[in-house]
Amino acid sequence: MAPIKSASPLFQPFKVGEAELKHRVVYAPLTRCRAIDTVPVPEMALYYAQRASEGGLMIAEATCIMPQAHGYPHTPGVYTRQQVDAWRPIVEAVHEKGATFFLQLWHVGRASHNNYQPDGSPPVAPSALAIGSDWEVYTQQGGPYKYPTPRALTKREIAATVQAYADAARNSIAAGFDGVEIHAANGYLLAQFVAATTNDRTDEYGGSLENRTRLLFEVVEAVVEAVGGHRVGIRLSPFNKFLDCIEPDPFGTYGAVVEGLNKYGLAYVHMVEPRVLGNADVTPEKGHTLKPFREAFDGPFISAGGHTRDTAIDTVASHEADLTAFGRWFISNPDLPLRLKLGAPLAQYNRDAFYSQDMVVGYTDYPSLTEEEVEDLQTATAKA
Ligand SMILES: Cc1cc2nc3c(=O)[nH]c(=O)nc-3n(C[C@H](O)[C@H](O)[C@H](O)COP(=O)(O)O)c2cc1C
Repeated sequence: MAPIKSASPLFQPFKVGEAELKHRVVYAPLTRCRAIDTVPVPEMALYYAQRASEGGLMIAEATCIMPQAHGYPHTPGVYTRQQVDAWRPIVEAVHEKGATFFLQLWHVGRASHNNYQPDGSPPVAPSALAIGSDWEVYTQQGGPYKYPTPRALTKREIAATVQAYADAARNSIAAGFDGVEIHAANGYLLAQFVAATTNDRTDEYGGSLENRTRLLFEVVEAVVEAVGGHRVGIRLSPFNKFLDCIEPDPFGTYGAVVEGLNKYGLAYVHMVEPRVLGNADVTPEKGHTLKPFREAFDGPFISAGGHTRDTAIDTVASHEADLTAFGRWFISNPDLPLRLKLGAPLAQYNRDAFYSQDMVVGYTDYPSLTEEEVEDLQTATAKA
């Protein structure tokens, strides 16, 4: 048997913001739809603590910044006192395990339904352009439904949305989080503004590249001002096709975005590899790669999507990224960093339970390795 590749590149220390990480295996933000009436539940403390490790970085599930921002059932928010209080023990449980914890800030824009909107009106977006019939929306009242045609945000509402991002960032820090990740990926509100295919505005938020990226930068600026750049990361997906939000010029547009982010002293930029679409694998188009973005950004860089033990080791060893984020494998392997270190087999994830409301099955019932299994694997590695 060939000896397994050493995972040591993944176990070198690295600084993100003010956190001294001990390894490069990041928990990717994963919506798990277990909140009740937008409020996080105590079971989430167990779930996240199971996946926390000494010196690890975790990014909590996408969390809504305001009532209009919701578009999936049972997703949490961080805009009320009750939500903030409910996050606090979850953050404490993760900190007790020695991990750094960021919260992903979310507004789904047009990827919503009237059922989620406070007054039953259509969802909000850059423009009144609906998501096509390849995609469906579920709400707590039922579904699947067609995505409704959204209504374009007014400039006054855009300003209120920017304010809501800043307030949500402050609330996250008040809940104990070490920082926030602005969700500008996967076809949600900020990405909808950036892509000309989803934004046909004629004011200063549409048209030119500068105009289409204006909201993204206003949000970054407001959030940085609220909590400090060292506490702010951002997630981008230049090659996204999810929810029909397609950027025709991924390198030009997102190259400019990444260049523009350099001046904020951000904790990190987190980018999605072209080999995934939302939560599933796809074949990347020829020439699609994150390399130019990595080169253009001066700070810490996270690569996410489709990582295996080997790709993560190679990506970090070749400096294509500083950190690698895992999604699906982290769902089914709570002790993923240890398993990668030891070259242990990975448990398969149960896709049916990704978004179910079961608080145990497919959520907190994936086991970690036992002490005995760890010892056996250590002996086997020492012999190899
Ligand atoms: C169940 C599930 C929920 C997800 N929720 C989010 C989310 O809340 N925010 C986000 O940016 N990406 C989300 N994603 C995408 C993941 O963060 C990640 O980019 C994707 O799963 C690809 O990585 P992987 O191949 O390691 O799973 C989700 C993916 C899955 C499978």
